[in-house]
Amino acid sequence: MASHILSLILFLLLLATELTCSSSIRVNLTVIVSRKTLPKYTHTNPLKNAPIKSPMKASKDVYTMSLAIGTPPVQFSGIMDTGSDLIWTKCGPGLFDSSKSKTFSKVNKSCESFGLIGCKQTYQDEKSVTVVLGQETISIENENFPNVIFACGTPDGGVQNDGIIGLGRGDLSLVSQLKESVFSYCLGSRFGPNSRSVFLTGFKASSENTNTQTMPLLKVDSKSYYYISLEGISVGETKLPVTKSDFAISNGYGGMIIDTGTTFTYLEKRVIDMISNEFMNQTKLEKCEDHKPNDYDELQHCFKSPSYAPFPKLVFHFEGADWELPRENYIYEKHGANVMYLAFIANDKDEDKVSIFGNMQQQNMMVIYDLDQNSLSFKPANCNLL
Ligand SMILES: *[C@@H]1O[C@H](CO)[C@@H](O)[C@H](O)[C@H]1NC(C)=O
Ligand SMILES: *[C@@H]1O[C@H](CO)[C@@H](O)[C@H](O)[C@H]1NC(C)=O
Ligand SMILES: *[C@@H]1O[C@H](CO)[C@@H](O)[C@H](O)[C@H]1NC(C)=O
Repeated sequence: MASHILSLILFLLLLATELTCSSSIRVNLTVIVSRKTLPKYTHTNPLKNAPIKSPMKASKDVYTMSLAIGTPPVQFSGIMDTGSDLIWTKCGPGLFDSSKSKTFSKVNKSCESFGLIGCKQTYQDEKSVTVVLGQETISIENENFPNVIFACGTPDGGVQNDGIIGLGRGDLSLVSQLKESVFSYCLGSRFGPNSRSVFLTGFKASSENTNTQTMPLLKVDSKSYYYISLEGISVGETKLPVTKSDFAISNGYGGMIIDTGTTFTYLEKRVIDMISNEFMNQTKLEKCEDHKPNDYDELQHCFKSPSYAPFPKLVFHFEGADWELPRENYIYEKHGANVMYLAFIANDKDEDKVSIFGNMQQQNMMVIYDLDQNSLSFKPANCNLL
């Protein structure tokens, strides 16, 4: 009898979990390899009421996600960005038009209450997108999510992308609004032919969490970034003379975040120089004169491509987890030019001095964010097979 009651309780609990739990989504992503500089992206800090820098820098190679919005649904795609919150798209004739949707409603709260001062997303180069907030049904792979707050964005000039899908920790992000406590992605090789990439949520994401390494996801109260705790870096067998304190968060500055909306990894220049010196010492490659590839002019460390060279693996030692970077995750090769670059950019000029673990470094990895546990897990993966 007792066991029957227990079974019934268990059944009801399971049912309740089914009903209240987030959905389980699978979306294919598209990699965009661009030669154009996308604008540097900033958003505002609702606590300080002042614009703060967002990490979306030099975001030339990005992964986009396709969603549908409104009733009847209109497709749009936006950059998948774990470094920001807002979901915005361009609207208008031929695009999403709120007057033609049965499910559109206005948002009663002011832009400012969401940290969007003057209803603008401001960019680092002073360019901005003016946003009008609305609530709509968003459809992802035939699943409908009503009353999702999004914005129609009108670029004030110079803004080259058509939309962003924010996956940050803030209230307006897609994962916050859909109450997804677990999400994951696998970013395929950007130069691989027919490479595939995927975004998952719910049990589709959590079921990938086997044989992974796990590290804590840290928080800074006023920011919606996902901070990770970097403690050291190795080139081949050599550990560089850097420690946890070199990458620590201090009064909201510094630290390292993981960001799918930034292409290359940002580190202090002295750390990049250490990587470069050790890399040169081990590979004996020749430095090249052509210091600045015109398409990625922030890359500084240039080498002549060898016909053959054993490349050391680079390891980022996080708290409790070692993230190994194979050659394609840290070398940018300029095709036809016989030169290659270390895919790191100095963050010294940035006032917040935050280090950013970019999307190039995350290729061919299943990366799982667990927001209940505040942990980030990862394992090497062939995204084409998922
Ligand atoms: C997503 O990609 C997989 C693998 O290529 C494919 O089988 C599936 O049909 C795609 N889904 C959509 C909705 O395009
Ligand atoms: C906006 O406010 C009105 C009146 O207070 C309310 O009836 C309506 O449901 C609100 N709309 C939303 C989207 O919250
Ligand atoms: C290069 O490597 C050698 C052998 O490991 C070491 O003795 C030397 O100090 C290194 N040079 C630099 C500049 O790091």
